Amino acid sequence: MVTSNDIRATFLNYFGRNGHQIVPSAPLVPRNDPTLLFTSAGMVPFKNVFTGQEKRPYVRATSAQKCVRAGGKHNDLDNVGYTARHHTFFEMLGNFSFGDYFKDQAIHHAWTLLTKDFALPKDKLLITVYHSDDEAFDLWKKIAGLPDEKIIRIKTDDNFWRMGDTGPCGPCSEIFFDHGPAIAGGPPGSPDEDGDRFIEIWNLVFMQYEEGPPGTRTPLPRPSIDTGMGLERFAAILQGKHDNYDTDTLRAIILSSAEETSQDADGTFKTSHRVVADHLRSSAFLMADGVLPSNEGRGYVLRRIMRRAMRHAHILGAREPLLHRLVPTLIRQMGQAYPELTHAAPLITETLQLEENRFRSLLERGISLLKEESASIPQGGALKGDIAFKLYDTYGFPLDLTQDALREEGKTVDTAGFDAAMAEQKARARAAWAGSGEAATEAVWFELNEKLGASEFLGYSTESAEATIAALIADGQPAPHAEAGQTVALILNQTPFYAESGGQVGDEGTITSPEGLVIRITDTQKKLGSLSVHLGTIEAGVAKPGLPVIATVDHERRSKIRAHHSATHLLHEALRRALGPHVTQKGSLNGPDRLRFDISQPRPITADELAGVEREVNARIRENTEVTTRLMTPDEAVKLGAMALFGEKYGDEVRVVSMGTPQPDKSAWTIELCGGTHVARTGDIGLFRIVAEGAVSAGIRRIEALAGAAAVAAIEDESRLLAEASATVKAPPAELPGRITALQEDKKRLERQVAELQKKLVLATASTPEQVGATPAILRNVGEIPAKELRPIATELQKTLGSGVVALVSVADGKAAIVVTVSDDQPFSAVDLVRAAAVAVGGQGGGGNKSAAQAGGPEGAKAAEALKAIRAGLG
Ligand code: ALA
Repeated sequence: MVTSNDIRATFLNYFGRNGHQIVPSAPLVPRNDPTLLFTSAGMVPFKNVFTGQEKRPYVRATSAQKCVRAGGKHNDLDNVGYTARHHTFFEMLGNFSFGDYFKDQAIHHAWTLLTKDFALPKDKLLITVYHSDDEAFDLWKKIAGLPDEKIIRIKTDDNFWRMGDTGPCGPCSEIFFDHGPAIAGGPPGSPDEDGDRFIEIWNLVFMQYEEGPPGTRTPLPRPSIDTGMGLERFAAILQGKHDNYDTDTLRAIILSSAEETSQDADGTFKTSHRVVADHLRSSAFLMADGVLPSNEGRGYVLRRIMRRAMRHAHILGAREPLLHRLVPTLIRQMGQAYPELTHAAPLITETLQLEENRFRSLLERGISLLKEESASIPQGGALKGDIAFKLYDTYGFPLDLTQDALREEGKTVDTAGFDAAMAEQKARARAAWAGSGEAATEAVWFELNEKLGASEFLGYSTESAEATIAALIADGQPAPHAEAGQTVALILNQTPFYAESGGQVGDEGTITSPEGLVIRITDTQKKLGSLSVHLGTIEAGVAKPGLPVIATVDHERRSKIRAHHSATHLLHEALRRALGPHVTQKGSLNGPDRLRFDISQPRPITADELAGVEREVNARIRENTEVTTRLMTPDEAVKLGAMALFGEKYGDEVRVVSMGTPQPDKSAWTIELCGGTHVARTGDIGLFRIVAEGAVSAGIRRIEALAGAAAVAAIEDESRLLAEASATVKAPPAELPGRITALQEDKKRLERQVAELQKKLVLATASTPEQVGATPAILRNVGEIPAKELRPIATELQKTLGSGVVALVSVADGKAAIVVTVSDDQPFSAVDLVRAAAVAVGGQGGGGNKSAAQAGGPEGAKAAEALKAIRAGLG
């Protein structure tokens, strides 16, 4: 049997041989389109190459592209399980020409590959063309030698392919396979074309236009080719099957599901096995591409797919979570072609198990409510909207899950009633908020949050993405447009910009458009916990809501932030290990140029402890282990040994970031709850350097540190200073400490000698008293003598003088110091005299007693005034 893996390889090799670049599948989350939820066709990653916006080094390409059609314009979710050919996940094989070959070669290649390499019988094939496309009609006749009746002209949009409401488009030509008269159905274009006899296998699109906003269609720079062949349906033909779910890959998963649940693969529960197989593929591939279940955007589509599968696992009677047990089979089938699947296997397995465990009890309770309510609904009737809403709101039943459950009983949901119940809940939230007295300026964010929902963050896996401006705010109010020079706030429908939270600063970068709009984004802030608000100034062009833009994060800056944030996790753990488990995080800041980390810690951290912590962090960096992110409930994360912040409010799910090798008590060296962005491997941090440690408040210490290039720069600075110091004192760095100690001792000794000499000098020159009034006095400005030397000199002079007053003023570093001594027989108080003198030099007070006192003042230049004041006091 030719396997799906063989078919994929044959297809790619054929086009590779014929001058096409074999391009690996792009991720399921499009980076280059602001409007698509998921990559839904092979041409999506090449969209901008068709329009000429992007240049590649090749003009022909071929790919096997992962596609998801769920939750967006192309949405097959509702039909999966019930038909032979609907999938949420499938692979599209394609060949592309970007202005190189056109219709003739596209037809030639398709025909050759099908009839020669895959050896399909010619008489089983027939073709459709767009009704007015005579050229394609004639080419098929000429190249394939098909008779006129096998080339069918189709008038409808079936033969005009569009990527979406906007984007490249053009007439197309489809190749059909005839399964033979044993199967009911007519050829394309006939009244019973929907039967299963004639199956479309390959669509050749003659890309000629770009669809813009309604009513604007412009020609592409050059006619191009986009083709798409669904691997699953083609495999069915080559494997002699009629049903995609009977082909090797899907069948293997279905058989695993049958074995795990002991339910016959083709019996009563056939539909449920199919849903499980299909949804397992889309869930696993979405997670491998970075989408994780959530209540918003793409994450919610994933959750809907997963929950829908889980209900079918429940129908299959699975007592324990089922989906994660099928992952090994999926990886055996597809892991080689898609290594990202193998790589993400632990994340996929854990997340599936987590979601299924969590949903299980809700599911059972929800199903019994649904049973109760639906019992009284007649066939063809509808479940009340408020019950469907209760199932959604209380039991986590996505609307499509409820619809799917009722579909089996031939019943529906009153969706208008569901919408009304949803609107009522929003109105209640609004009323509660309006009453909460928040600042009026925040009202604008509340309205936008309600209208737009949470901003979808793409920045875990990309730093650049296309998006549309969902809202524009200028001068605090929504604005219809804004121009160069204006400061604006923008909300995008999706964004790679990280909005400040969890201690990580907001991203900077640019938001541009092909028409010349340039907005420099200087900060990204989170509003109401869910809106990412980009703040910046328009440098050129005009911004307006609805405009498609390219949002690009400043890569250098973000890389530096990442290094600091990951280093913080390592620092946190190293501190706990060095100082004890009392260490908890009290604050954190991760910026591009440094990190700041506050911890509870009663005493200063010693230099030795700090050096040990720094050494430990650097050792973990050198280990260069992968940094992994998983999603789980806060409880599970704590069980896993994750550090959670006490008193912090966490959602239903948390991201859990692990680094370092497994430990006896936990699966990695550090495990933390964290929504921030991190390096891929610890080695990417490069280097870690602590630069400061100090107190913030009682019991809280702050550590400042650097990572990566910033740490290297700090060490370079330190080395340079060391070299300068070394040169100054003329000693090699290793001898610096000894040399500096010796210099300090020298200095002390010399200071002592100088003081001694000054004292001698003063005593030698100041011993002759003058007579102030009736009092013998020695009043002297002694120059640059340190304040502490004055007192012993004065005492000495007083001794020689006997009865009388001594007052000395010295000036050092511009400040005056005054000492006054008075013999006991004199009526003056040394304190009064010194106070009067202090005032003269701008000082206050003065301390001592009647016989000796000292004071000082900042205005050393007025030393003479101080002596004058004393003289006046004696007179
Ligand atoms: N883009 C075309 C399709 O998806 C080939 O059918």
